[in-house]
Amino acid sequence: MAGPLSSTSLSPVRTFHPRRSRMGAQKLAALADLLPRYEWVPGRDPLPLGDVVMEIGFGMGDATLVQAAAHPTVTWLAVDIHTPGVSHLCRELDQQGLTNVRICVDDALDVLDGHIPDDSLSGVQVFFPDPWPKVRHRIRRLIQPLFLDLVAPRMRVEALLHVATDWDDYAVQMATVIGSHHAFEVVTAPPRPQTKYEAMGVAAGRTITDVAAIRRR
Ligand SMILES: C[S@@+](CC[C@H](N)C(=O)[O-])C[C@H]1O[C@@H](n2cnc3c(N)ncnc32)[C@H](O)[C@@H]1O
Repeated sequence: MAGPLSSTSLSPVRTFHPRRSRMGAQKLAALADLLPRYEWVPGRDPLPLGDVVMEIGFGMGDATLVQAAAHPTVTWLAVDIHTPGVSHLCRELDQQGLTNVRICVDDALDVLDGHIPDDSLSGVQVFFPDPWPKVRHRIRRLIQPLFLDLVAPRMRVEALLHVATDWDDYAVQMATVIGSHHAFEVVTAPPRPQTKYEAMGVAAGRTITDVAAIRRR
């Protein structure tokens, strides 16, 4: 059943543009061959045992790959709906021999809402979401109080929420909504790998801001 911030019940708050980028035959073949090996299907697959960090909007998987390699005992549940990125991550996981990443091709809001048990996630990461600077797009931004209401109960106590942006006004929004949410205590953000969108922001002269918080008891 859809909850308050699922894409079905709050359809105006769509946090991504559904788009079908063209993929060449090689990438399509890689997707068909490799995705079944890594895919995590909501409603079919139980959450992996042990520490699970959910990365929402992994893009090309830059941060996913580096972190998964550095923390082999943690499972990365990498969620995105952008198929070229899914294909790229599958190929890299195969080439690098990483086995601790599961890929979920779905709307993260629906996944959180219907398929992630309470007190289950060891971390949640959202790096450079919503790359739209226009004022009219702000209502679609992911990091807002309703999202925090959805994600907080699914995190274990002391689990880390880590978000980052290259838009100054979004950085203020992130710090404000996370800092004022009863379930979170803001902490110093740990280092993390650079991502593709981050590199684009840096190249354009924008400032990078990370906000991190632990789930309170
Ligand atoms: C601007 S890109 C950033 C990608 C990557 N984190 C980086 O920094 O390079 C945002 C990504 O989030 C994904 N995304 C946005 N909303 C989403 C949602 N509700 N569920 C799953 N993925 C989402 C988009 O498809 C896109 O790949």
